[in-house]
Amino acid sequence: MSIRDYESTSLTVHWDDEICSHSAHCAKTLPGVFRPGERPWIDVTGAPDDEIAATIDGCPSGALSYSRKDDEIPVGSGDQEPEDDVVVRVWGSGPYEVVGTVRILDNDGNLIREVTKASLCRCGLSKVKPFCDGSHKDGNFTDPGLFRTPRADQ
Ligand code: SF4
Ligand code: FES
Repeated sequence: MSIRDYESTSLTVHWDDEICSHSAHCAKTLPGVFRPGERPWIDVTGAPDDEIAATIDGCPSGALSYSRKDDEIPVGSGDQEPEDDVVVRVWGSGPYEVVGTVRILDNDGNLIREVTKASLCRCGLSKVKPFCDGSHKDGNFTDPGLFRTPRADQ
């Protein structure tokens, strides 16, 4: 796991590059903050904190999270509480979107990851399985899934 932090005086944005599915949801929603191709690629001063938080809550893979410095919310998926129920959406021509607390184990039962949100590969092309890395798009993966309209940002 490699989590990088990007800070302003009031907010720290955390990005876990290993589980980012490169959906571009963040860049399409707040291009002044999430700027692929620039360094640093996240500018936490580029929009009000609440807009950044709302965009992070929409990150489908859980790669983005934030901590507000005033109330010291710990690292996690924003203000969202972990959910007991696990919901899986099978996106057309895209990954499994998992929402809920999930523990990913290896063959010996060792905990690899515990996440509250994830995009999991179902095309077989990801280089970071079981997570989706966006390779389904370059690989032209097509499958109707269970949602007839593919999610535009997956
Ligand atoms: S998965 Fe999250 S961090 Fe990665 S590009 Fe999409 S919205 Fe941004
Ligand atoms: S579903 Fe995204 S890389 Fe396989």
